[in-house]
Amino acid sequence: MDIAVIGTGYVGLVSGVCFAEVGNNVICVDQDKQKIDKLQNFISPIYEPGIEELMEKNIHAGRLAFTTDLAHAISRSELIIIAVGTPSLPNGEANLSYIEQASIEIGKAMNGYKIIATKSTVPVGTNEHIQMMIAMNTQHAFDVVSIPEFLREGSAIDDTLHPDRIVLGLDNPSLAEPLTDLHRAFTDQIFVTSIRSAEMIKYASNAFLATKISFINEISNICEKVGADVTEVAKGMGKDKRIGSSFLNAGIGYGGSCFPKDTDALIQIAGNVDYEFQLLKSVVEVNKSQRYKVISKLEASLGLLSGKVVGIWGLSFKPNTDDIRYAPSIEIVETLIRAGATLKLYDPIAMDKFRERIDHPSIQWCENAMEAAVGADAVCLLTDWEEFKTISLSKLIFIMDQPILIDGRNVYSQEQIQGTGLKYYSVGRPDLIGVSRPKALAR
Ligand code: UDX
Repeated sequence: MDIAVIGTGYVGLVSGVCFAEVGNNVICVDQDKQKIDKLQNFISPIYEPGIEELMEKNIHAGRLAFTTDLAHAISRSELIIIAVGTPSLPNGEANLSYIEQASIEIGKAMNGYKIIATKSTVPVGTNEHIQMMIAMNTQHAFDVVSIPEFLREGSAIDDTLHPDRIVLGLDNPSLAEPLTDLHRAFTDQIFVTSIRSAEMIKYASNAFLATKISFINEISNICEKVGADVTEVAKGMGKDKRIGSSFLNAGIGYGGSCFPKDTDALIQIAGNVDYEFQLLKSVVEVNKSQRYKVISKLEASLGLLSGKVVGIWGLSFKPNTDDIRYAPSIEIVETLIRAGATLKLYDPIAMDKFRERIDHPSIQWCENAMEAAVGADAVCLLTDWEEFKTISLSKLIFIMDQPILIDGRNVYSQEQIQGTGLKYYSVGRPDLIGVSRPKALAR
């Protein structure tokens, strides 16, 4: 199929590259000339493992191209995918101005029948609005469909090539067959539904996953008080197929470009129809307070934080990405600066982005994890990057001023901590302060 993708952000670029990879002719459009120049030279504007290799391969194969010329892209394509951003407005609602602009431009550039698919996350009813705006700008026939995207940053290519399911939201039943055929290259799990239900599936899925995370984080807070271990609790719960084991890792809460934005937007969508989504409001509140667990654990072990040196391992909202949008690290670092601490920051990829966001005389930028621990009164692990999991913990006692490790992502096992001399505090698990584990419990 000949496909045009409008918007080369995460969703647009990854979708475009993956549709090309399975044999379609794809042209990706963006109004940012510099971005298009880079993309034409196989340079991705986003950090995503594997994407540049796939770009190069498909450009050479003649299946993938990039342009700023929207009219050209539309005229040569049967399917047009809208993948522009829908950032949050101050009240939490999704800002649809890029969607509106794209709809008008698509309408003006159409030269015959087209299928227009929305992949951007949009409130229920938006696709009807898109339909209206295109109709106002063209005489040609067209259909609008909703195909929400469920990819995760860091594993976006694999998620797109091998998704759990594809949701096709359409109100014209004759489109079910061609669109199912197009997506069969990715999976057989194709669920056809109405446009409004498809729009809702995307929000409900993200809200549910966010709920799982806040739920286990609250359980972890209770575990700390009753002496249980939340990782064991989650394992035991996850063995029930009705619950499932994924998204039950307790920590310092979720961040990123989707969960915080989409939960706020769904609360607004409900509010607009006079429904108070109480459960989701609590999920958001729990998430906001969970990151401060790191601060309270620091205060409990160090007392006043003024004048203390704190090493930070990890700044991105999750591993394998340089994305710091809504990352818990932002508020943690800001709070520590306000408290008068000196900070030694390290992240494998996200340092530059973080520095653009927060730069302060109290911050020292380090080249590796060990450097961030030198002379520190405590080290806090905020992102579960793979390289932190294999670090030589027994060295820390020799380079830190005080051997305090606060693990905000429950990365280390009791076995890894034993014998290191560290005072170890994690989330929802017993503290380990030089106490060895009774043999009977050892696994
Ligand atoms: C998410 C959804 O998973 C994806 O389907 C949607 O399209 C976009 O939003 P993403 O934001 O890339 O994807 O990352 P994800 O892996 O879902 O993690 C989100 C956040 O939740 C991260 O901050 C992560 O650290 C946190 N998380 C995840 C937990 O704290 N515990 C968990 O068990 C899982």
